[in-house]
Amino acid sequence: GRVAVLMGGTSAEREVSLDSGRGVLEALRSRGVEAFAVDGIPALIEAIQSGRVDRVFNILHGNKGGGEDGVLQGVLEALGVPYTGSDVLGSALAMDKIRTKQVWLAEGLPTPRYQRIAKGEDVHAAAQKIGLPVIIKPSSEGSSVGVSRVLKDADIDEAVDLAARYPGEMLMEQMVIGDELTVAVLINGEGYTALPSIRIVPKGEWYDYHAKYIADDTQYLCPGLEGEDEARIRDFAMRAFVAAGCKGWGRVDVMRDRDSGQLYLIEVNTAPGMTSHSLVPKAARQVGIEYDELCWRVLEATVQ
Ligand code: DAL
Ligand code: MG
Repeated sequence: GRVAVLMGGTSAEREVSLDSGRGVLEALRSRGVEAFAVDGIPALIEAIQSGRVDRVFNILHGNKGGGEDGVLQGVLEALGVPYTGSDVLGSALAMDKIRTKQVWLAEGLPTPRYQRIAKGEDVHAAAQKIGLPVIIKPSSEGSSVGVSRVLKDADIDEAVDLAARYPGEMLMEQMVIGDELTVAVLINGEGYTALPSIRIVPKGEWYDYHAKYIADDTQYLCPGLEGEDEARIRDFAMRAFVAAGCKGWGRVDVMRDRDSGQLYLIEVNTAPGMTSHSLVPKAARQVGIEYDELCWRVLEATVQ
């Protein structure tokens, strides 16, 4: 059938999504799939209504028209069109970092200490309670958009102002000092497999938007850990994915404390980046799954 590769949209991650979408489109075509590009949700609905869409490969990133937050998934359920990735619940939950943390904590899965914050509140008291350094970020953005690392009290207000520019709530989170890792989770028959972890070693201070998509000097180690530690992080990520009600595929971001080795969940991405710089394709390649094959597997696992 005809597959609409849904990309672009109106979120802060529009450009990243267009880049991911181009890759997916080309990959599906190379596998003989009759695939075409659609930019944004209104255009998709038009294409569906004119009878041109049998399935949707969703590679929109972000919230509010972004397509990663459950709204698109609800529309597609209502219209009876199958789509890739998580359904309404998993998408909506994973887009909301605060509530994802609440679910993980209820399941006994560790995530850094945090507090929901609002502009005008006593954010300095919050920082004192959590303990500096902290991360301040919008609860519902991706690609590190609006995120600040705050090392000293004097920098808190600026960080709050930045995060407040994006829709939704904000949170302040304890900064885990250690390694940044990520684990892709991929459907595998009836169950799920965690791909090898990737350890991210940015050239600069941290893995921000620039390091993610522009710079070429970030180092990626895959697998990111060895032996028991690697097995542990994969299992941890898979449990986090399932606890958040996610489906099909996704990528779980994790921090590992340098001293204790303790793993902490940061978030789960339900439409992870598929650009040439992106992480899920790197992890898949490590186990012999090429980019085209990866796209094919994600497509096969459509909901409904
Ligand atoms: N939000 C970006 C696209 C990612 O998680 O890869
Ligand atoms: Mg993200």
